[in-house]
Amino acid sequence: MLVHNVDVDSAPYEAIKTKPRPGHADLSHWLKFGHVDHRGGGRAAARETVGRVAAGAIAKKLLAAHGVEILGHTVEAAGMAVERELSPEEIRKNVEKNPMRCADLKVAERMKEAVLKAAADGDSTGGTVEVRALGVPAGIGNPVFDKLDAEIAHALMSIGSVKAVQIGVGCEFARMRGSEANDPVVLRGGKIITETNNAGGILGGISTGMPIIAKITVKPTPSITKPQRTVDLAKMEEAEIKLKGRFDPNICPRIVPVAEAMLALVIVDHMLLSGKINPDRFK
Ligand SMILES: Cc1cc2nc3c(=O)[nH]c(=O)nc-3n(C[C@H](O)[C@H](O)[C@H](O)COP(=O)(O)O)c2cc1C
Repeated sequence: MLVHNVDVDSAPYEAIKTKPRPGHADLSHWLKFGHVDHRGGGRAAARETVGRVAAGAIAKKLLAAHGVEILGHTVEAAGMAVERELSPEEIRKNVEKNPMRCADLKVAERMKEAVLKAAADGDSTGGTVEVRALGVPAGIGNPVFDKLDAEIAHALMSIGSVKAVQIGVGCEFARMRGSEANDPVVLRGGKIITETNNAGGILGGISTGMPIIAKITVKPTPSITKPQRTVDLAKMEEAEIKLKGRFDPNICPRIVPVAEAMLALVIVDHMLLSGKINPDRFK
């Protein structure tokens, strides 16, 4: 795969050549490698995600041919959250209808306003993105170190700016009782399913056949136009930077296709390992 970047503008980064942007990877890369590509962050720039999305597109084609669908959407941004359960139909229908990639169109409008308000103050905002894998067969994954949920967390956390991964109801488990948290096991039309899906489709590292659901916490975009304190690495003295350039005021909508791609890649790997996919059957 080869992607030609035809929209390059490195000029705004000249002023920060030796001044690491707080919250970005400039400082840690400089400390490890002794240099940093100041033109957007080098290997830490979101440009690298194009490879993930391209590979994920192939994984999605394989999955689609085997009845698996991956759906991602923004569920919280700039303090505005979707408070209800959204159906897959709603997500499919609405997600590309607004710039926040939020499937609840009313909340999407409020998110957009809040994101733009913070951006007008020279600031950025964070949020939460949900990804689901529907139609995943029971029995993929492993019981110990390479648990399916561990591998999904690894894949999603490898995306820049993702700072937490939750599976199923995730952090809410901390406030639940076992009797509320456990998903009752029931028979429906001769098939064993769980009545609820707090577990997010995985138990003991292995899929149950219920939808696989993960949520990721996305930090506010590090690059902001407000003045920030840093150190000039050439002079070894404290300095202030005021950034100019093209930044995402909120990363959530940009992360939706990346998170979908990473989930698709993990699911496809595990379906291949479990012999549940014919690698020659694409859709
Ligand atoms: C899709 C995507 C878009 C991003 N856009 C920006 C951006 O416009 N400006 C910025 O400073 N960081 C952006 N980031 C975040 C940085 O890449 C990330 O914060 C940086 O690599 C440091 O990694 P960490 O936040 O995981 O520690 C983006 C990340 C992703 C995944």
